[in-house]
Amino acid sequence: MVIYDLLIKNGFICTSSDIYPADIGISNGKIAVIAANIDSEFSKEVIDAEGGVITPGGVDAHVHVDEPLKLMGDVIDTMGTATRSAVAGGTTTVIAFASQDVNLKGPKALSESVNKTIEFCQKEPLYCDYGLHLILALVEETDNACNVLDKQLSSLYKDQGVSSVKFFMTYPGLQMSDYSILNIMYATRKSGITTMVHAENGDIVRWMTESLENQGLIEPYYHGVSRPTIVEGEATNRAITLSIMMNTPVLFVHVSSPEAVEAIRRAQTMGIKVFAETCPQYLILSQADTKCHYGHNNWFEGAKNVCSPPLREDQTKECLWRAMDNGTFTIVSSDHCSYLYSSKYRGKHNAFDQGKSGKFRYIPNGMPGVCARMPLDFHYGYLKENISSLMKFVEVHCTNPAKLYGCYPQKGAILPGSSDADLLIWYPIEDKRGHTKINNRMMYHSCDYTPYEGLEVKNWPRYTLSWKC
Ligand code: URP
Ligand code: ZN
Ligand code: ZN
Ligand code: ZN
Repeated sequence: MVIYDLLIKNGFICTSSDIYPADIGISNGKIAVIAANIDSEFSKEVIDAEGGVITPGGVDAHVHVDEPLKLMGDVIDTMGTATRSAVAGGTTTVIAFASQDVNLKGPKALSESVNKTIEFCQKEPLYCDYGLHLILALVEETDNACNVLDKQLSSLYKDQGVSSVKFFMTYPGLQMSDYSILNIMYATRKSGITTMVHAENGDIVRWMTESLENQGLIEPYYHGVSRPTIVEGEATNRAITLSIMMNTPVLFVHVSSPEAVEAIRRAQTMGIKVFAETCPQYLILSQADTKCHYGHNNWFEGAKNVCSPPLREDQTKECLWRAMDNGTFTIVSSDHCSYLYSSKYRGKHNAFDQGKSGKFRYIPNGMPGVCARMPLDFHYGYLKENISSLMKFVEVHCTNPAKLYGCYPQKGAILPGSSDADLLIWYPIEDKRGHTKINNRMMYHSCDYTPYEGLEVKNWPRYTLSWKC
């Protein structure tokens, strides 16, 4: 009698709360049963995990893909290629961004922006499930802005199921005033929407950028110099103050600064609902990687690693790992935002056009990483003992992002009857077959480089099971 489509035998299931040996029966893309020693004859197909760990598929809640509004510029990955890249590295759910179309007006304006993005993303085959956040680009500074926004966000939630918005405290043209932030926080609290904050003080960045340019300090490396860690610390503190004022829970994205970590930790200790995300690039790469990338001597190559917040000094990493382990960070995402090196080169061309040498201010910010996130952190986090357990790895890479963005326990868990059969079977820990030297080809993205080229990791998902809904 065949009951299951697929049976996984001889594995150790690892969730955010337990590790134990068991077999898994899968039917119709769902986890059907977990039990000791399920007989192979009950299943159409059997995979032998050979003593390897089985975790939920990764949930990457911060990914940028090409979309109609192109707020992030000419990113090269589409939803199709980003999901392909995700699955290649063990991520089976991505949450990307739709941008607000500021030309649309009326109560359905935000829903229409999201609709356009969904249509755009579904033009090609996708490799795994996805969700969308909304980027707020403009909030009218009118008396009633908070109520107008509340209505729009409520209908967005009802019509599209979009339950999170991101806003920026930096970037020319996108930087929100404190007044607008209060309006956003009022509206997100009323509509029950999660508020994602990009916290950097845009005025300091602007001042520093101009000052560095005046001194002729314009290479990619100075992008990082223009945004020291206190730039993030100040904005994080301010956003926490505004969130207390509005009684609105907030989530800080791509946190990289010790001052920001401290502010978040302090707020959490006071019982304020503050969540935080960090990314592998801040845990593994460093500011020196924007000077000259892994031994080449093309001075502009550091542009590949230009992102905001910027990569930090090596000393910062310990603080970030600790914050992951002690629960200050709720989730780890990639902030995948891929530009061809030729697009990064815009910084160079643009400046050449003006008869000067390259300026960091024109380099598009962001780097690819959706593929490498899971294996990098399995290696640098768990295997190198920067985090204390594999359960913590699962918690911040799979379970918490699913909970935070409303797709748990369908995603981020291995629960019979509830969870999709999105599963990773890793190599047994000592198995040399898992050893992998990262190169760009194996990222399966559309980008022409990976910031992690040449790094070696001691495990890689041997099987990635992704069942699309
Ligand atoms: O440099 C970055 N992080 N680019 C992507 C846009 C953003 O702010 O997340
Ligand atoms: Zn951001
Ligand atoms: Zn170089
Ligand atoms: Zn981002």
